[in-house]
Amino acid sequence: MSFNNFSLIVAPNYHDLSKKAANFVYSKWQKKYPKKFVLGLATGRTQVGFRQEFIKLVKLKRPRLANLYLTNLDEYWPLKKNHPNSYFQEMKQNFWDPLKKLNLGFSEKHTFIPNCQAKNPYQEAERFEKLLKKNGGIDLQVLGIGIEGHIGFNEKGSAKNSRTRLIVLDESTREANKNQFSGGKEEVPAHAITLGIANILEAREVLLLANGKKKKAIIKKLIKAGPDKNLPASFLKLHKKVTVMIDKEAYQ
Ligand code: GLP
Repeated sequence: MSFNNFSLIVAPNYHDLSKKAANFVYSKWQKKYPKKFVLGLATGRTQVGFRQEFIKLVKLKRPRLANLYLTNLDEYWPLKKNHPNSYFQEMKQNFWDPLKKLNLGFSEKHTFIPNCQAKNPYQEAERFEKLLKKNGGIDLQVLGIGIEGHIGFNEKGSAKNSRTRLIVLDESTREANKNQFSGGKEEVPAHAITLGIANILEAREVLLLANGKKKKAIIKKLIKAGPDKNLPASFLKLHKKVTVMIDKEAYQ
């Protein structure tokens, strides 16, 4: 199915969605082998299955991982890196370490995520922006979507030309993510560093994942919407190569 520039894939369930997403990313990466492939990743519950299926695929096929560069699009600020809910930890424990353990040439030097304990978040945003540029930009950016339509941590009102920056999190985002923090909403940092909409639009390809009933309303809006500040994900309508992969529960 195709909606404007979106290719829409509806999987029967979350497990199948995760497998499809892993296969999609794997084949895009392999097509570029042995050239450097910069894979942009997101965090959050939606991404868990995809990452697990991707690791399974790598275990099965045992490709060389030396050309794989992983960059994350957002991170809370401020937070200790070793805080169990920093995105740094989420990535380290569930993706970087398992990939490293496979002894297929994966290097932690090829992992990039905004520094959640940077003293100066503005300088950190600049550093990250430069780092992406130095690495040739993002080949494929995987995204989730917030219930209010954010991508990365680009909350409502984010401009089309926004770039990597410090952002104040919406109360709805802190509420939605509070279950991941033992201390509830008050423990969720009030700020984050995120790639901007312009950075996301510069990725050569985008894959957006969503699952479950909770995402149904926002996906419906997204499919209909034109580019609109009040629905940051709708700026993806300006991108030429976007695949939206969802499960049945998130559809219509
Ligand atoms: C979070 C993250 C996003 C993520 C989205 C959806 O707040 N910052 O990068 O894609 O919101 O999260 P989930 O998959 O848990 O619904």
